[in-house]
Amino acid sequence: MKPIRIDVIAGAHTYPIRIGHGLIGHLGALVDQAAPNGRRFVVSNPTVWRIHGPTISAALPNAEPILIPDGERFKTLHTVSRIYESLIGNGADRRTTLIAVGGGVVGDVAGFAAATFLRGITMLHVPTTLLGQVDSAIGGKVGVNHALGKNLIGSFYPPAAVIVDPQLLTTLPRREFRAGLYEVIKYGMISSRGLFERVERDLAELFAREPRVLQPVITECCRIKALIVEADERESGLRRTLNFGHTVGHALEATTNYRRFRHGEAIGYGMLAACDIAEHRRTLDPKVRKALAVLIARLGPMPSVADLSAKQIIEAMKRDKKVVAGKLHFVLPSSIGRVTTVDDVSTRQINGALRRLDLQR
Ligand SMILES: NC(=O)c1ccc[n+]([C@@H]2O[C@H](COP(=O)([O-])OP(=O)(O)OC[C@H]3O[C@@H](n4cnc5c(N)ncnc54)[C@H](O)[C@@H]3O)[C@@H](O)[C@H]2O)c1
Ligand SMILES: [Zn+2]
Repeated sequence: MKPIRIDVIAGAHTYPIRIGHGLIGHLGALVDQAAPNGRRFVVSNPTVWRIHGPTISAALPNAEPILIPDGERFKTLHTVSRIYESLIGNGADRRTTLIAVGGGVVGDVAGFAAATFLRGITMLHVPTTLLGQVDSAIGGKVGVNHALGKNLIGSFYPPAAVIVDPQLLTTLPRREFRAGLYEVIKYGMISSRGLFERVERDLAELFAREPRVLQPVITECCRIKALIVEADERESGLRRTLNFGHTVGHALEATTNYRRFRHGEAIGYGMLAACDIAEHRRTLDPKVRKALAVLIARLGPMPSVADLSAKQIIEAMKRDKKVVAGKLHFVLPSSIGRVTTVDDVSTRQINGALRRLDLQR
């Protein structure tokens, strides 16, 4: 299958997303194109490196690996500091390139290290999770968590290139793959009925990671995210539509200390809540919520929310950083592929939606 190139315009700077099965075998040439000079360091974690390290080392023989521990709890300034130590200890300089090979955690941490080391060195993303390939590697957001909250420390730092090889996803555990699929469905809901219907139609082939089906779906998501971030780099308006499902989703994650749900699963619930709210405001045909609920159920079981209370979730929503001037913003669908942002959803409407998701009062 032919590789695809999508150019992302990020302010004064344009970078390519290259998408293709087996691209990883050509990583050497792709890195040479994007960052011709200087030393190369690969930031990854032991899980990913054990599986894909040999292929990457073969394609990029001179790159030096820096491994950081696997897991969201290591997405910290301390880990960033460990990356600085390896870079300094190994004589990295301004011409050095950092290549992040891993999921969203590796990408966010390595990206933040690259943005800040010597005031910024060249950075490439090689996302290895579905979430990374359709979402976190595109758009230039990098950062780490703080003890007082998730993603509180960060920056915008566009990479020199994003290399997306769907073949890397064949080793991804099923739950991690599903976690990315919820975001794929989100793209369908916010901007492409065709994508939504494709997921409905080809779900089995997607789970089987069939290149013929997987590559076009990833490409479509990258196109949508690229267009949205180009139009609105700093999240003032259009980029907010990417937060569809995230108002309730983030609150579910925060309330359960980020342990119960994969991010995508929480977004699955959040999208259902947003549809429910829209339906009860009579701005959405009930058939749409039904279709989304059926598709989400087909993906597989989600962690239960039956022990959580709507009150808890609403309080967590009000603490979220997306609250602007005390107002909660909701992205609500008006049909499959179209959304609007509103700031007048009442507590009663939210409560009702959460109760219908099975939360307590
Ligand atoms: N920067 C952004 O715009 C943005 C957007 C969305 C999410 N994020 C961030 O992304 C993070 C979540 O990313 P994630 O879902 O990719 O999780 P993750 O990075 O923790 O990866 C999930 C798990 O899969 C493993 N893994 C990765 N690739 C694999 C492969 N090919 N085969 C087998 N195992 C593999 C990882 O080692 C890890 O255990 C969060 O920290 C979130 O805040 C950032
Ligand atoms: Zn998300």
